[in-house]
Amino acid sequence: MKYITTPIYYVNGKPHIGSSYTSIAADILSRFWRMHEHDVFFLTGTDEHGMKVAQSAEKQGKSPQEFCDVMSAEFRKLSTIWNLSNTDFIRTTEERHKKAAQEFWNAIAHDIYKSTYKGWYDSVDECFVAEADVCNEKTKDGHTVSWMEEDCYFFALSKYKDRLLEYYRSNSQFIAPEKRMREVESIVKQGLNDLCISRSRFSWGIPVPNDEKHVMYVWIDALTNYLTALGYPKNNDVPEQFQTCVHLVGKEILKFHAVYWPALLMSAGLPLPKRIFAHGWLTSEGIKMSKSLGNVIYPEEITKLYHPDVIRYYLFREIRFGEDGDFSKQAVEKRLNYDLRNDFGNLVQRVISLAKKFEGFSPTYDQQEKNNNLIAKARSLPNELIKYFEMQDISGALDAIWQLVTESNRFVEETKPWALLKNNDTIAFCATITALLEATRSISMCLKPFMPTICSQACEFLRAKGELFQELQEPLSSQVLPDHFPLFPKDDK
Ligand code: MSP
Repeated sequence: MKYITTPIYYVNGKPHIGSSYTSIAADILSRFWRMHEHDVFFLTGTDEHGMKVAQSAEKQGKSPQEFCDVMSAEFRKLSTIWNLSNTDFIRTTEERHKKAAQEFWNAIAHDIYKSTYKGWYDSVDECFVAEADVCNEKTKDGHTVSWMEEDCYFFALSKYKDRLLEYYRSNSQFIAPEKRMREVESIVKQGLNDLCISRSRFSWGIPVPNDEKHVMYVWIDALTNYLTALGYPKNNDVPEQFQTCVHLVGKEILKFHAVYWPALLMSAGLPLPKRIFAHGWLTSEGIKMSKSLGNVIYPEEITKLYHPDVIRYYLFREIRFGEDGDFSKQAVEKRLNYDLRNDFGNLVQRVISLAKKFEGFSPTYDQQEKNNNLIAKARSLPNELIKYFEMQDISGALDAIWQLVTESNRFVEETKPWALLKNNDTIAFCATITALLEATRSISMCLKPFMPTICSQACEFLRAKGELFQELQEPLSSQVLPDHFPLFPKDDK
């Protein structure tokens, strides 16, 4: 099994392109592995507890649960908007999660003690802030902090420092990209304070077992979702399944996933996830997205302008996955015109039209070196891509696919199939088109995890099932190709 997760999203605000980004990445990975016949569990969901949520609900005159029901549904809709193939959608207010989080608490109870916390609290990020990071009651990010003194439960995080460092050293692929691994190591090397893992100033949370005055710190509650969805604590296969886990997270929450979470799992005697990949942040037209600036990009709006598949492609072609990047309409249009219409769409269009030019066309394998080479590249591409996908290098995979797109377009120019037809060299014509159809079939299938709807259409035009990569090892179907139309019509912006 392959287990792929997104962060669970806070329900305080509506989903936007940023909260869609990780989910689309997880969907691309999931779809790719499924086409390679892996059993994939793709999890996303909503993080619904904490003071901020309770406050937002109050502002709207709703109970926290009512508020969460409405907001969580907005996040669930992302699966329809972006065509996400998630296996499950978890909500931290579900009973299954409450049970799992409390059981997890019990599993780490030997590392929990009660004491008094005194310090600054940032209720935007739901975390305590070090004295040194507070200036005029504000954090470096400008969040207002408040002084807090309260009894709470602590998790003995500090004692995990050496074990964590040792784990990072002996598992060099645990945190990616590499620069993030170094950042995490440096945080841990500086020393870790024990973590305050309960709150008693508000009640919107999961009660601490045997002490109902306290609710769990929202991050302990939230991180456990990754176990809940696998059926923790009842399912005996949880350790084995969880070991395959790839957590995709934004860079700002890497510390929670790469420091706190592994220590908590060690404490619970559970295996650690396979990998934690931190991606960068998106800006909108070069500026940080913010409601007050009015530049937030909302999924329902942007997908009215562009096909969701076009945005899915853009996000990972324009911005290297792992780096920060910008969402700009001009750049989307450029990618749509150049890459999708000119390179890919045109290739599909041209090759199919050429095949249809000759009524007697049937797939022909003449063993000519140039044709064989193209066919071999087409057939091996899905396996070539594995090394990128194993590293979550989604953008690298796109580059590799694009090499075949470029090569296939060049092949059309160089072999001039129309001239072969004119000279009545029908065998050479059919063999050349066969090689091109194989390449186009492979490209369409390899691009399917990125653009599921449009590439399914391309596969239909090519009479390919387009479900499993194994299909590429089979010769082309000899059925006549159906009618086709442009994959990226001009009136579709
Ligand atoms: N609830 C926590 C996560 C708990 S996971 C156990 C949280 N939620 S969040 O709503 O703030 O969403 C965070 C995630 O949304 C980020 O980690 C990132 O994946 C995504 N993004 C939100 N805004 C983003 C951008 N502007 N750009 C890219 N991704 C960003 O933190």
